[in-house]
Amino acid sequence: MVESSEQQRVSNALQAKMIVLGFLAKFTHLESGPIITQYYFKPEPFAKPLATILNKTEDLALSVGTSEPLLIQRVKDEISISVPNHVRDLIIFDKCLHWLATSSDNKNSQLPLLMGVDTKGKNFSIDLTVQPHILIAGSTGGGKSVFLSQLIASLAVQRSPEELQFILVDTKQLDLTLFSSLDHVSNMIDKVEDLHEGLDWLLSEVRRRTEAMKGLARNLTEYNKVYGKQLPYIVLVIDELADVIQQDKELQRGEDSQTKRIRIAAKLIQLAAISRASGIHIIAATQRPSIEVISGNFKTNFPTRISFRLPTAIDSRVILDDNGAEALLGKGDYLYRTSESSILERAHGSFVSMSDIALVISQHEQIRKTFEMQRKQEVA
Ligand SMILES: Nc1ncnc2c1ncn2[C@@H]1O[C@H](COP(=O)(O)OP(=O)(O)OP(=O)(O)O)[C@@H](O)[C@H]1O
Ligand SMILES: [Mg+2]
Repeated sequence: MVESSEQQRVSNALQAKMIVLGFLAKFTHLESGPIITQYYFKPEPFAKPLATILNKTEDLALSVGTSEPLLIQRVKDEISISVPNHVRDLIIFDKCLHWLATSSDNKNSQLPLLMGVDTKGKNFSIDLTVQPHILIAGSTGGGKSVFLSQLIASLAVQRSPEELQFILVDTKQLDLTLFSSLDHVSNMIDKVEDLHEGLDWLLSEVRRRTEAMKGLARNLTEYNKVYGKQLPYIVLVIDELADVIQQDKELQRGEDSQTKRIRIAAKLIQLAAISRASGIHIIAATQRPSIEVISGNFKTNFPTRISFRLPTAIDSRVILDDNGAEALLGKGDYLYRTSESSILERAHGSFVSMSDIALVISQHEQIRKTFEMQRKQEVA
């Protein structure tokens, strides 16, 4: 149960500190992973409410000798306290790709997105056709752009450019621009004016596809099965939503009543609301999860939320409807909630280097063929 004297020391120190704080709980077990170790405690029936220790996480951290944040979560009738490991593993993208190629977990997914590893170090993915639109937040250095690279690169080695296209939006012309020569990228947008055009085109493409599928298929996957792979999935990826919305506001100032357009945020909400069945998906990331950027309407249409480290619990609640992102470690450590689950899960993204990106751009076809061969061998 407890694997090392260090873990023994930490579990004893946490239990003792909680008693001092008036929260009586008994250590039950731990789960160790590549980045954090989770210590589980069962509160005594007469223990004070959990709130007693929730605002004392700094005291608890000091008791175990770390200045880094601890995350306390309720897990059924227990609580878990996550303590960052002194030595953390790097989650290696190559290893994750190997898992994607060999695991049967993804065989029913249409668009499997590599998510990295869970807190125990187990790889996992989600299907973008099931979680159709994803909203990501995190302050600078949290790991958003590396995570977007992981999503784009993992999809590009599983689906051909005929099956999947990306429209990438990077108004800061930084990280997504690295993918501009990937064969799957049909459009690389760096100006808000061009994004207006892109969104208008996507909205009309949804209407065209909906019309083509009417009475024949319920969604693009079914349609392509019946009629051969005719229409590609389209994934719109936006690296800095707050910047896009800010620039759009500035653009609005120069518009008179003749040229006034529907705002970008409204177009994105409209697109998200109608595009799922036609195989058009949105992944948007933002540094600032303010209510001006992420309105209630926006959140309703982006049910899958991911957050990297954020400055405060208030920011965390804007994106996740819960505290927690303020206690993350940065560098790819994140919390997420899918549309199917009310539980907030913690996970860690893989590190995608420049050379990983270069390899995917130049070799995606060979990698995909190797994947297919490996899958066939598994079936045989
Ligand atoms: N999964 C990861 N594993 C290890 N290190 C990581 C990981 N993700 C990010 N990092 C480190 O953190 C740095 C910042 O990551 P990234 O550029 O993705 O942050 P960001 O959230 O996009 O920041 P910004 O908002 O400033 O664009 C990276 O350069 C890298 O050194
Ligand atoms: Mg970034």
